[in-house]
Amino acid sequence: LRLFSGSANIQLSQEVARYVGMDLGPMIRKRFADGELYVQIQESIRGCDVYLIQPCCQPVNDHLMELLIMVDACRRASARQVTAVIPYYGYARADRKTAGRESITAKLVANLITEAGANRVLAMDLHSAQIQGYFDIPFDHVYGSPVLLDYLASKELPDLVVVSPDVGGVARARAFAKKLNDAPLAIIDKRRHAHNVAEVLNIIGDVKGKTAVLVDDMIDTGGTIAEGARLLREEGARQVYACATHAVFSPPAMERLSSGLFEEVIVTNTIPIQENNRFPQLVVLSVA
Ligand code: R5P
Repeated sequence: LRLFSGSANIQLSQEVARYVGMDLGPMIRKRFADGELYVQIQESIRGCDVYLIQPCCQPVNDHLMELLIMVDACRRASARQVTAVIPYYGYARADRKTAGRESITAKLVANLITEAGANRVLAMDLHSAQIQGYFDIPFDHVYGSPVLLDYLASKELPDLVVVSPDVGGVARARAFAKKLNDAPLAIIDKRRHAHNVAEVLNIIGDVKGKTAVLVDDMIDTGGTIAEGARLLREEGARQVYACATHAVFSPPAMERLSSGLFEEVIVTNTIPIQENNRFPQLVVLSVA
């Protein structure tokens, strides 16, 4: 067995390596003057079972390309099996056509990873679970929820209501509610008039006087979760927590999340969080 890390989240890879009691394998990673990437595995992996850890987070295209090059290098070095460990699967939201003449980019990414030579994929909290079906190779879909739920349960929050910030997230929120002593569920009616612009309209369910826990797969610009929190406060929620596996945190997420709407914003380390994106209410849990 051999473990290698791409450049996207070396700290997480190191934690995983420590957890399984191995060292990360040596690998050269360079960039040519024109921006092209170069990868070379620095030890023999002939006949080995190789795991490559690389979330496809920002800059998404660079990290995806680096993963593809790593997979290709391993295949050409006669690895017996190559598993792409993708803690955050980029382009997952482009999982279907919502208008004419669009790409289904999540499927294109699956084709690229398979074509590069991966024999197996392990990904965490896909935006939509059906992305597994875009692959014809074995796929392990794992979840950040055990880590997030343990943390939430340890806080013993009173009068809990679990809130899905949109209809698409109801199954995820329901699973959380079930694990939190069958807490009640509320659903926010969210509309998007443009990419990255969320408008919340209504809450289905009772949140007055309650501790609301918003659950989502990712926080990107923070619009969905901040608009949800604002509405929850308006509807009388006493406290609002936000909880998501992937801290994408594109601007202006920092401003939105640190504006006093949340008691805590709880995320995991599938994506590294830059220092300028940290704020006092942020809690980062490890999924290593
Ligand atoms: C959307 O369906 C996702 O589950 C997230 O709610 C969304 O991508 C978050 O984006 P933002 O933070 O930019 O509103």
